[in-house]
Amino acid sequence: MEVIICQDPAEVGLVSAAKVAKIAAAIGPSVVLGVATGSSPLATYENLRALVQAGKLDLSQASAFALDEYVGLPIEHPESYHATIDRTVTVPLGLDSQRVHVPDGDPAGLETAGERYEAAIKAAGGVDVQILGVGANGHIGFNEPTSSLSSRTRMKTLAPQTRVDNARFFGNSIDAVPRHCITQGLGTILAARHALLVATGANKIAAVRALVEGPVTSLCPASVLQLHRRATIVVDEEAASGLSLSDYYRTVFDNLPDWQRLDI
Ligand code: GLP
Repeated sequence: MEVIICQDPAEVGLVSAAKVAKIAAAIGPSVVLGVATGSSPLATYENLRALVQAGKLDLSQASAFALDEYVGLPIEHPESYHATIDRTVTVPLGLDSQRVHVPDGDPAGLETAGERYEAAIKAAGGVDVQILGVGANGHIGFNEPTSSLSSRTRMKTLAPQTRVDNARFFGNSIDAVPRHCITQGLGTILAARHALLVATGANKIAAVRALVEGPVTSLCPASVLQLHRRATIVVDEEAASGLSLSDYYRTVFDNLPDWQRLDI
């Protein structure tokens, strides 16, 4: 696991976008991105948009797969993840919306929605780089604590804390936050060729410590990334403040061989 400690959230955005751009450049225009909602990756998307606009990154042939969606929220709802991904990723990065996929949260087809989504990822050749945020309780996607470490896309029930955290998007009404979701599983996320998790701020100190330096356990779903061959965690000073090996992570980053360096 590579841990990159940045000065502030702005630098987290810069560094994480440079990492995505490096991977995308190596793969070519038909790169398959895994994209996340939440506030954490917004600065990543903003920096990727700048690279696209500067002609340094071509995503016109790219595909994207979102991690998750609420169940029962119409896709036209501004807080549906269909709408959120469209607003924060598809439009700014100039992606072809036909190639942007979000799990189907329609209650009518829920029994098969997971398998259909897995088949779509497979048909696209798999995800090249999966961008992730992390919940304060260690969830990635909507894989709440005790999610199977080998799970695949399926319905989950949101943890009470997640509904509290996300009430801010629903007029501060916890009751307005859907109770169920459909999310890529931890096994699905592990199958991406690269995983890139971003986290900033004091609210993420415990989750970052647990996922980087704690045991691999379903109680902290993001700790499954310790099993990933190419996982990068980009955090700001604040979110990193609970880590015990920060000096080592900085030494590693400062001494990367040229071919591993980022264009920043
Ligand atoms: C939601 C999303 C996650 C995201 C998390 C953290 O629950 N399903 O993918 O990582 O929120 O959000 P934020 O980055 O706003 O803290």
